[in-house]
Amino acid sequence: MTDPQDAIDSATARSERDPRIGERTAGEIQEGIPFIGAGPGDPGLLTVTGKELVEAADLVVHAGSLVNSEILSEFCADAEQVSSIGKDLEELVPLMRDAHEDGRTVVRLHSGDPAIYGAAVEQMDALEHEGVPTYLVPGVTSAFAASATLRTQLTLNGVSNHVAFTRPQGKTLDPEEDHIGEFVGMGDVTTCIYLGTHAVGETMDRLLDEGHDPETPVTAVYHASWPDEDIVEGTIATIDEKLESAGYRASAMVVIGDAARKAGYERSYLYGDWANRGQGEADD
Ligand SMILES: C[S@@+](CC[C@H](N)C(=O)[O-])C[C@H]1O[C@@H](n2cnc3c(N)ncnc32)[C@H](O)[C@@H]1O
Repeated sequence: MTDPQDAIDSATARSERDPRIGERTAGEIQEGIPFIGAGPGDPGLLTVTGKELVEAADLVVHAGSLVNSEILSEFCADAEQVSSIGKDLEELVPLMRDAHEDGRTVVRLHSGDPAIYGAAVEQMDALEHEGVPTYLVPGVTSAFAASATLRTQLTLNGVSNHVAFTRPQGKTLDPEEDHIGEFVGMGDVTTCIYLGTHAVGETMDRLLDEGHDPETPVTAVYHASWPDEDIVEGTIATIDEKLESAGYRASAMVVIGDAARKAGYERSYLYGDWANRGQGEADD
């Protein structure tokens, strides 16, 4: 097998556009191994296409505990199921390639949507380099499940005009790449922090050091859409202690901003002055 790093290097050096772009659309079943977003947890939040593909699979390589085991037991109990946790590209790529070349139907199941902190593209490039076609099937990212759990919108008229999907500095992100303070400082951004439950204390301390208002609302949704889903509400000053006493140090979406509380929003133009005019870019 080609070294996956060589496959990634040659993919990133490529200047021409993938000829499949524009010929195929998201949701279209294609040749090769689909990289499917399993959604946030509830099996009902897997897309129809994702479910059909999982049901037809002989081998399902999944993202371990972030994929609800109910999806595996309900939709592919008879398939071989392999968790990707603890496996590197050198192990994962030949596993999927060999099964595909043996004529087995292989699917790769990522949590949420593979496009958000999914590390899907490097697997796809390494497989493509081995002659195995791949494609993406989107899923519901956990920030959207958290928003539904909170019965709110991430963008809310008069409160938040933008959404940041972000993660805090740590093993894989240098301090200068951490922009959480900047997003919070913008004031009208709902900041959704992935991969940050374990580091909430340090993140909030940094925000306090930078002079952000300690009363800024921070809401954590643990296991959004799972049966044991839970919500912890606090502020920049209090959320760490509250998460500590709730015992959640992983698998939560940390949302900074007023939108999570639906506080202070205003009626939108859509169902006001703009109604029936049929112009502008309408919100759904
Ligand atoms: C490796 S990232 C994968 C994100 C995933 N691709 C997505 O779109 O949701 C894992 C992080 O996503 C968040 N996450 C995933 N599933 C979640 C859920 N059901 N509820 C809350 N947060 C979740 C947590 O912050 C977790 O640390």
